[in-house]
Amino acid sequence: TIYGEPKPNAEIFQINLQKGDDVAFHFNPRFNEDGKQVIVRNTRIKGVWGHEERQLPFFPFSPGRPFMKISCTSSEFIVEVDDRYLLSFSHRMKDHHHIKTLAIEGDVVLKYVVTGM
Ligand code: GAL
Repeated sequence: TIYGEPKPNAEIFQINLQKGDDVAFHFNPRFNEDGKQVIVRNTRIKGVWGHEERQLPFFPFSPGRPFMKISCTSSEFIVEVDDRYLLSFSHRMKDHHHIKTLAIEGDVVLKYVVTGM
């Protein structure tokens, strides 16, 4: 669970779950992509980005909304924001149990991260 919030006037941030340089789950909110708010999800394996997943029921981020949770099941990552289900991302990397790195970058103020079950 990641406690933080987008910076005021945030443009972009990303959360990457990684195994070495490979990104098993790239979660990339873009606040103004040609005037639209999108969340791009993808993998990057051996330096190559896969196909982007962009469908979204709603855009959940605004300043002051404090946290999100990423769960990993045997078949997918599940993202909740403010205790509300947002999206899932089916595993593409088979050895997702080797994910060791959580990278959080961009226009976000991070408070803290709670890991584990
Ligand atoms: C690229 C961008 C990367 C990553 C990727 C996701 O255009 O430069 O940072 O977001 O899209 O598909």
